[in-house]
Amino acid sequence: MANEKKYNEIQWLDRNESQYGPSPKCFEYLKKVTLDELGWYSRDFSRGVKSSLSEKIAKDFNIDERQIILSYGSEDLLKQIIHYYLDRKEKILIPKEAWWYYKKVAYEVGGFNVEYPMYKTEENGVATFAYDVDKMIEIYDRERPRIVLIASPNNPTGNRISKEDLKRFLDACRGALVMIDEAYWGFGSKENDYVKPFIDEFPNLVICRTFSKYFALAGCRIGYAFAGKNLEELINYSVRYLGYNRLSEKLGEIAMNDEEYYERVTKLMQEDKDYFYKEFSKLDGFTAYKSYANFMLVDMPKDIRKDLNKFLKERNLLIKFLDEEAFKTETRITLGTREQNYYLMESIKEFLGKK
Ligand SMILES: Cc1ncc(COP(=O)(O)O)c(C=O)c1O
Repeated sequence: MANEKKYNEIQWLDRNESQYGPSPKCFEYLKKVTLDELGWYSRDFSRGVKSSLSEKIAKDFNIDERQIILSYGSEDLLKQIIHYYLDRKEKILIPKEAWWYYKKVAYEVGGFNVEYPMYKTEENGVATFAYDVDKMIEIYDRERPRIVLIASPNNPTGNRISKEDLKRFLDACRGALVMIDEAYWGFGSKENDYVKPFIDEFPNLVICRTFSKYFALAGCRIGYAFAGKNLEELINYSVRYLGYNRLSEKLGEIAMNDEEYYERVTKLMQEDKDYFYKEFSKLDGFTAYKSYANFMLVDMPKDIRKDLNKFLKERNLLIKFLDEEAFKTETRITLGTREQNYYLMESIKEFLGKK
């Protein structure tokens, strides 16, 4: 099977997008979109809320609707928060092993990054990255940054921070604005019980989420955040009086209501992650890291990277060969459908057999 080229088009397993797509109910809705949904602004603002989506999120989480921020994807939240709060020469504390994008935003406003490292360990026999809270607190105390950023699950390492560690860290840095990027929420667990207590207890906390990953609606660009009580200015700054994208909001609501579909997809992905851990552990020089997201970080021998990339591209398989300061030998694989995942694994094995 792996001998032949299976796909005629590029399989994009390099951008952490969903290969299964959103709930089929989203497509049903789009077929029935009405004139006013396309042609008119929403009337939600006159009801005293941002939108029916923020209203739903507020109700689900038992949080005041005013404390829900809506945005154009969570990229937009990241920019709004940093642009609003970070002054020239101020510092933002970010993970060293993180999404490259964090590293550039501070410079847009004349601020700069201070990095905290993660460490490598093992969880139930699988290699994993981990947050080092003691070290983070030590660096926070020394550097006194204006903003602190934590990503959970983190891209590209795939690990998350526990509620207990997070609380300990939040307690230690009450003087900063703390942003938790939860773009990959949902794949490892659907835990939500900490959101309200943390938002109530930590007034400078903002928890950012998106519909792009778990809900597979990246093209619709919908992000949202829970903002602590001190962040009134950010909330006011981000409000759009003419409303948001009505179609996207509706699609978000439909997706949130179709729990059954997303749980089915997540279960398949979890089984495929277990398959990858097992298969990569059989290959010399490869390490697959524990992932709570829709991608997996895989370390591999440096000398095969170029040829493997070429080999996979010839089969229309695109995975991300990272080449940045923190990652020189790692590859990030976006989980595909079962068929894509198996074909990728077979292709890697075939390449190694050929060498
Ligand atoms: C860690 C992380 N945060 C945020 C985003 C932004 O996603 P979006 O703007 O689609 O919500 C991404 C996108 O890949 C990401 O990897």
